[in-house]
Amino acid sequence: MCGIIGYIGRAEATPILLDGLRRLEYRGYDSAGVATLLNGTMEVRKCAGRITNLAQLVQKDPPNGSIGIGHTRWATHGRVTDNNAHPHLDQSGKLALIHNGVIENVEQIREQLLSQGHIFRSETDTEVFAHLIGRIFDDNPGPRTQRSLMESFRLALSQVIGTYGIAMFHVDVPDVILGARRGSPLILGIGKGQNFIVSDVSAILAHTREVVYLEDYDVVSIERDNFDIRSLAGTGTSFQVSQVEFTLEEAEKGSYPHFMLKEIFEQPEAIRNGMRGRLSKEESTAKLGGLNMSSRELRDVERIVLMACGTALHAGMVGECLIENLAHLPTEVEFASEFRYRNMPMNKDTLVFAISQSGETIDTLAALRESKRKGHRTLGICNNVGSTIARESDGGVYMHAGPEIGVAATKSFTSQITILTLLALLLGRIRHLSSAQGIDVISALENLPDKVRQVLDLSDHIADLAAKYAAAEGFLFFGRQYSYPIALEGALKLKEISYKFAEGHPTSELKHGIIALIRPEVPSIMIMPDDAVFDKNISSLEQIKARKGPVIAVASEGRKQVAVLADDVITIPKCPDFVSPILSAVPLQLFAYHLAVKLGCDVDKPRNLAKSVTVE
Ligand code: M6R
Repeated sequence: MCGIIGYIGRAEATPILLDGLRRLEYRGYDSAGVATLLNGTMEVRKCAGRITNLAQLVQKDPPNGSIGIGHTRWATHGRVTDNNAHPHLDQSGKLALIHNGVIENVEQIREQLLSQGHIFRSETDTEVFAHLIGRIFDDNPGPRTQRSLMESFRLALSQVIGTYGIAMFHVDVPDVILGARRGSPLILGIGKGQNFIVSDVSAILAHTREVVYLEDYDVVSIERDNFDIRSLAGTGTSFQVSQVEFTLEEAEKGSYPHFMLKEIFEQPEAIRNGMRGRLSKEESTAKLGGLNMSSRELRDVERIVLMACGTALHAGMVGECLIENLAHLPTEVEFASEFRYRNMPMNKDTLVFAISQSGETIDTLAALRESKRKGHRTLGICNNVGSTIARESDGGVYMHAGPEIGVAATKSFTSQITILTLLALLLGRIRHLSSAQGIDVISALENLPDKVRQVLDLSDHIADLAAKYAAAEGFLFFGRQYSYPIALEGALKLKEISYKFAEGHPTSELKHGIIALIRPEVPSIMIMPDDAVFDKNISSLEQIKARKGPVIAVASEGRKQVAVLADDVITIPKCPDFVSPILSAVPLQLFAYHLAVKLGCDVDKPRNLAKSVTVE
């Protein structure tokens, strides 16, 4: 949450900062601001609202300088106002700071600074942070050098409790930007005659692909032709320079009106990329070398725990069915946010997975750390290469889905399920699954991208349905077995981007209470592909229709009975039940998308949300 960018080079900073902020806007879009430095003069422009508001402000009165910092905010401390927008200045007005994270001991520091005569202009923890660094620097009796600024910076960092990804500069020490991270992502971008500090590589792909993913407690300084990374204690620290895998084009919308639609349509390729090189027909199994576990070690696993949040949690729920059905291995899914505070009994043969697209979700990261602290082998399933979860886990599997920018997760969901299917296949093949069954799973997976493409061809039909039902008060989503998590995910997508009330339930729970909600104003979306409970689903459909509830059914092709009973049908290709969740999820993503567009909602930047939840 919140996107930050720092630039030092030879070009004008403001256009680079604004372009970077536009690309970071998915991280938070309450307010935005920039500060630049030229010949000892700092200029700040900031305002509430989207980057477009900031761009207008900047156009009227452009701030100059080839050093600058920029921020796009997701409010934590303080309302969405111009004053609360970043950058924040210290008491002297010479230090500018941007921050992603939360300072927990802010009140204590604020009190202390107030007693020293400090005056605060905002309600934010970040301004207090800026004042603290400035105070320490101003109290330092020595010369005002880069070294003394860095010392003050480090001393201030050691006094704050909480999380931060920050960047700052000071008028008295021009030609350097300082940055640090703890719990919030921060990346150093290495250019030629220019360097960057950013929350996400997508902001600087136009300038460089060479990056260092900073670790917690790293402190970095960047100059035009140099950079230095040290520990908080000031000692040298090891780091690795990496090349960003994806291209600028991949991180752009191209001809699509929204990132979400682009990412929905990228699913066939994303699924294929997730499987590439990981299926072995000779051995009828999946190869997941990144797990760093031998077959013997995998066979000794007695229980699996999958931890995740939001959409990734729903993928985990599909994973639970997959691993239990294909590998007969007890599996549980936990809200990462609950796991970290629960004292869940886990024996030593439990293998834990943290599933996260961003690899930065604070709850999932905390759950991973808690699991590791208890001595469990903890693996990651992540999309963002070099993310904190990917780096801190004992091994794992990258999704290779490409950048996902739309706040509503789409291709990451189906990619996560694909990876979990590979995992279930691998675990199954060293247990109960025969070679012939393994081959069946492989061929179902190989056919999947083409089948997803067939579902994508239904986009216009689904847009018509969305228009037909756009006035509905709310929606109920129903599914059983593999389709229950899809009901939850369909409801989450719809409420996130269209703000329609939506709930997902196991179809079988209908008669235990939910049926009271059935009426003409509340359509039900029933996910009922060909599987062992198809006939039971038909009975539930009849029960809804008997109470005048409109029904949109997502069903496999050739099921005439569904067409007769339901008001509308979205037909998905026939497939084995274990790949049906992917095929059922895609039309629900499209339904949510088209409905939100119809209602005029801001699909890629829904109300109150941010892509990556890095605060608790
Ligand atoms: O990056 P992660 O996969 O860890 O994110 C988890 C959730 O925050 C995320 O899936 C969220 O629920 C999405 N907005 C759903 O569309």
